[in-house]
Parts: sequence; C-alpha cells; structure tokens
Amino acid sequence: MRIVYHEESKVFHLWNDKISYVMMVLPNGQLGQLYFGKRIHDREDLSDLLELAVRPMASCPFPGDRSFSLEHIKQELPSFGSGDYRSPAVEIAQKNGSRVSDFQFQSYHIEEGKPALPGLPATYTEDAKEASTLIIRLLDPVTNIRAELFYTIFAKEAVLARSVRYYNEGAEAVQLARAMSLCMDLPDCAYEWLQLSGAWARERHIKTRRLAMGIQSIGSLRGNSSHQHNPFMVLKRPSTTERQGEAIGFSFIYSGNFLIQAEVDAHDHTRVLVGIHPDTFSWKLEAGESFQTPEAVMVYTDEGLNGMSQTFHRLYQRRLARGKWRDQVRPILINNWEATYFDFTEDKLIQIARKAKECGVELFVLDDGWFGERNSDRAGLGDWIANPARLPQGIAGIAERIEGLGMKFGLWFEPEMVNEDSDLYRQHPDWILAAPQRAKSHGRYQYVLDFSRIEVVDAIYEMMAKILREAKVSYIKWDMNRSITECFSAGHLPERQGEVYHRYILGVYDLYERLTSEFPEILFESCASGGGRFDAGMLYYAPQGWVSDDTDAVERMKIQYGTSFCYPLSSMGSHVSMIPNHQVYRETPLHTRANVAYFGTFGYELDLNRLTETEIQEVKEQISFMKEYRGLLQFGTFYRLKSPFEGNEMSWMVVSEDKSTAIVGWYRVLNTVNGSYTRLRLEGLDPDFCYRSSQGGALCYGDELMNLGLCTTDATAGEVTAGQRPCTDFESRVYVLRAEQIHG
Ligand code: GLA
Repeated sequence: MRIVYHEESKVFHLWNDKISYVMMVLPNGQLGQLYFGKRIHDREDLSDLLELAVRPMASCPFPGDRSFSLEHIKQELPSFGSGDYRSPAVEIAQKNGSRVSDFQFQSYHIEEGKPALPGLPATYTEDAKEASTLIIRLLDPVTNIRAELFYTIFAKEAVLARSVRYYNEGAEAVQLARAMSLCMDLPDCAYEWLQLSGAWARERHIKTRRLAMGIQSIGSLRGNSSHQHNPFMVLKRPSTTERQGEAIGFSFIYSGNFLIQAEVDAHDHTRVLVGIHPDTFSWKLEAGESFQTPEAVMVYTDEGLNGMSQTFHRLYQRRLARGKWRDQVRPILINNWEATYFDFTEDKLIQIARKAKECGVELFVLDDGWFGERNSDRAGLGDWIANPARLPQGIAGIAERIEGLGMKFGLWFEPEMVNEDSDLYRQHPDWILAAPQRAKSHGRYQYVLDFSRIEVVDAIYEMMAKILREAKVSYIKWDMNRSITECFSAGHLPERQGEVYHRYILGVYDLYERLTSEFPEILFESCASGGGRFDAGMLYYAPQGWVSDDTDAVERMKIQYGTSFCYPLSSMGSHVSMIPNHQVYRETPLHTRANVAYFGTFGYELDLNRLTETEIQEVKEQISFMKEYRGLLQFGTFYRLKSPFEGNEMSWMVVSEDKSTAIVGWYRVLNTVNGSYTRLRLEGLDPDFCYRSSQGGALCYGDELMNLGLCTTDATAGEVTAGQRPCTDFESRVYVLRAEQIHG
C-alpha cells in the first residue's frame, strides 16, 4: 500500500495490490479525478490522464483556453456555481446571498492508520499498518472555508473510505447547504445500477437498471435510512455476474437521510454522489466551527459481485463492527414477540423459556410489552420501568429466573419513541419533534423523541442504564418503529432547524456509544420495524440487526439474499417462526424455515410448547447443527450461487478459510414434477480436495463440484418410493461438504 504525491506533475496516486486511485491538482487549483479501478503502475506524470476537449458553449475559467472547462472535467470536490453544471458535492450559502464557491488546493499530509470521525460511525484500523490516510486541504478563498478530504486506503482490501471535514476559518457564519461525503467521477457510463429497495416486510430486494443520460438516485427523507432504499448501490458492467467482471460498490456509513445518485452527462461521464440528503439538510457553520460528514466506502472488484460482497463482509465484520461480540459466534435465541405479542405474564414467559432451554436455546429475549402501561401499542413508550402487574420482581427478577434456567436474558427497548399516553410525555410534551402550531402526525400511535437535544438523550440513557445496572441483561434489541414527521426541534434556533435530522442521528449514535461503552458485555441487535434502519452506521454499534419483520422462509430468501450484497451473515438476525406464517400465512416445512435462518444469527420466534414431539426433536437437531456450524456460517466466506429473483430455485454457500468444510443451502419455492436433471455449480472449494456430502453420494473433487456441479435432482420425480420423504413445495436442503482425502 502506498500513497505518493508527484510534486512536478501534481498527481496523487494511492494504491495497493488490488486498486489504484489517481487525482491531480488541476491548472485552476481545484482537485481533479483521474482514475479509480484495478491497480495500475505508478508513473512520475500521470497527468496526461486528464481528459481535455474543446466543446462549444462550454464555460471556461481561463480566457482563451477553451479546452479547460469544469463542465467536462472529472473532479473530487465539485462546488456549486464555478462552471460545472452537474450536481455539486458542496454548496455554501453565504451572508451576502451568494452560493458560489471554489475550493483550491492548499496542502496535504499522510497519516498511518485511520483517524476516527468524532461522533460518527466509521471503519477503523487496529494496527496503524492496516491502512494509510491521505488528507488533502482545500480552501475557498472568499469565505475562508477549508475542506479536508479524507482518503483511506486499506493495505489488503480493494477499499477506499472517504469523508470530508469543513472548517470555517473566516469571520462570518455560513450555511452548509450541501456537504456530500463522496464524489466519484467515472470516465464512462457503461454500467448497470443495482440497488437494494423495497418496503416494510419486503426489504432489500435487488433492482437493476441501465445507466442513461440524466440523474438516477435513491435516498431517504424519513429520518431513518429506511425500508424503501438501503444506503448502498453498485455500478456493475452489464456483463458482470456473481462470478466474474467489474463492479464498484458504494456504501454509506450512516443511518439517517441520505442520497446516492449517479448523473450521466452529455459526454457519458458518470458522477456518483453519496452523502446526507441535501433536501433536508443545512448546517450553520459559525466562525471557528467545523463539520464532519459521515463516511462513504467504495469497493472495487474485478471478481464479480461475490468478490465485491466478500470485501464488504470482511471489512464490515472486522473493521466496522466493534466490541466483544464482533468475532464471537452469536447466541441462539428465542424471542417471545410472535409467540405472545402483548399477551404474556412472567410465568408464561418462563414456560416458553423452559421449553427453549430443553431444546438447547441459549438466550431468551423479552420483546415489547414489559414496561409502563404497555398493554398494547397505544401506551407506555418512554416509561422504561417494568410493569409490576406482569413482572412482579421487575426486570432483575425475571432476568434472574431466566439465568436460573441456565440461559441468558435479553430485553427489547424502543429508546427514541414516546406514546402520548405515557408518563414521560405527560411530563415533557415538548420533548418530541413537532412543528409549532401544526398537527402532529402519529406513526403506530407514537411520537419521535427529540434526540437532537442532549437533555432528552440524557434522560433516556439514565432510564435504560438504571435497568442494565440492576439486572443481568446480556442482549438488547433496540427498535425504532416510525419515521420522523414535522421535523422541528424546540431546542434549536430557527437558523439551525436544518440541522435537526442530522443532529437526531448524532443523538442516536451518542446514546449507542454511551450504552455500549458502559455495558461492553451486552450484545446489541438493531431493529426498525424489521429492516428499516439496517445500515452500515448501525453495524458500528450493534453487530447484528433484525433483517425484516417478515419471518416467512420464502420471503426471507429474497430479503437475506439482497442484504448479503453489502452485509455479512453475522449481522443478519434470522429466526424460525410459526406456521401459518404471521405475515403471509404460508406454511413452509420446519426444515426449510431453519435452512434459511441458519444463514444468519439464528433463533426462534415462537412458543416451542406448541410444537409436536416430532417437531421438538427436529428443533433439537437444528440447534445442535447450528451450534456445530455457526462459526463457519457466520464467519466463513459467503457465495451467492442462484438468485431467488431469477427463478424457482435459490442457492448460497459458505466455505471455511482452509476450504476443508463448506455448507451449501439449496431451496426451491414450488415443487416441480418430472423435472430436469439439475446440478449446482459450487464456488470457493479447493479443486484438489475430495469432499464428502452429508446428503450422501460419491466422494467428489472440488473441481468437479465447481465445474460440473453438485447434483440437486430429486430422487422422486412425481412418484414417492417407499421409505422416502416426498418433496413438496418450499423444499430445501443443506449440504455439509467435508474434505476427506487431501491430494497433494
Ligand atoms: C417491531 C419489531 C418487531 C417487534 C415489534 C414489537 O415491529 O420489528 O420485531 O419487536 O416491533 O412492537
């Protein structure tokens, strides 16, 4: 890994074995982009990569030089108003009404490792040798706003992490009207755009389209990153597949309003912008103040989409997630939500826990309904005190009973919310986000607390910490069940109202930081009506997140498959639930529900007392299977093999680092009759190892399994032979492959 500045040619080149990133100081003093992609050789003068062309009607900073126009030049920090008509990365509203700015190169320095971003989640290093950071200083000479562009290149990964910090070194306050984290100008537009989008219970479905002239974008204006669009996007070459080809993945480490857009101009350049959504943002920067944007991460691959995802998985698992649980296999849990909803007593919970313990479950999670007057979703949020009618000895009491059974105890919170019918709201009606003289929109009968105010965060912290200090709580599910409306804070001046969405998320991060620091043993799982805030920002505080409120196995195939484009299996909360399923009323076999949930953190969302003896036997086997293989499932190398978005079958697999063990999941939605002979081409095995499958069959070399494929044909083709279990709809199999005889 190197970062070099060629003084003569004014070219910066950052590279490692996999990627190169090249920029130059342009003749007008701004910073230009020359190349990002597969590693190229360094040269003293790469400035000839600058593309200049004389184009009629172009704006030109130098009289007489018609070839130099910012309209057509690829840039690092394009600003509003200085001759580039594409969307800018920065826009500054000044006292005199002007929004024009022009950021000129000043200096640079290089730091070993990676500086932390104050108050914000970000990737990090454990050893300074893992990465180097180039910090380039630019200055807008009229306002004296300094921009520092941060570029971190990791030694071993095809990753570039970026952010920008603004300092007001002038005498007057300005409003930052737009402060994007990343601008990436690419030289062509021969890409397909891939996004992860959907809705509640149908999160992160894969949607693709071809880039074309104009702007295509995704984003959120809801206050949370949203079920609708995940802060992640891929530009892939049209010929790129899971196995081969070029792509660039863009991920935003942020949980609030965001914008990711690609703008293709008239000459087929593509400008990608990633950052806080400018529509709901403006930030007053007083003289002497600074503003740090969140971090955006770019991953390059020439090894297909699986290659890109594996890079994100390694990075986010090891250098974004933090704390005790980062590298540990996750406890198998049982959650009472779909088992009881609000209808429970302590004894009923203990019954559920007891049965779960008998099956081998390790953690009991008490979901919504344990506090205040929370007998339905109409009351109680904000009153984080156990309801004595349900829990006579409080949280400490039930936690002790659960621990007495030999299990760990986990607890649900929704810290950012309040019901109108709650003591907290009665005491502090002004603690919610609400606009003066306007009606207050409800969402699930609740309001959003004003987390942009420190006193609100303090109060919630005190209530939560009190419980956690008194009771043995090993896990927290942190929920968030509505988006922001009427965004206005009684705690901030009129000219600072544009800061409230961002300050809100900073408040959420602050509370997470305080709780994870004071209670480092606790495993946090994030949640927002399922996957409404399943993003890289959350992963920094909570190493796992509830992927979706949809627990149906067939629906989950698509949701978890899409989620895996950016996020590792160790981050995906996935449970076996009851049939008929509570979201789609589908009846899938118990083994298929588990076969999908194994590819995640695994647990149960039902009352095991309602299962038959045969089913309990099966559950016990599932749990011992997961205990044996969760290390591999959660931390192995993951490959997508067959997309559920493209047909009736879906498949994925994980492989151990030494390639001695692999687990393949194969799933078929509808049964077929008298179907074709089917084989599944595997990936990531050692071609010279011989693998034995847990489903029987011959001992096969890795090269056979990868090139010819693993046979998945049904033994029955419409007829059932005596002694065989007939295949049905929603069939699935998990194959464990173990290398037995290793040839040199
Ligand atoms: C959200 C969560 C669920 C459950 C309920 C409780 O919908 O996603 O898992 O915790 O809230 O109200």
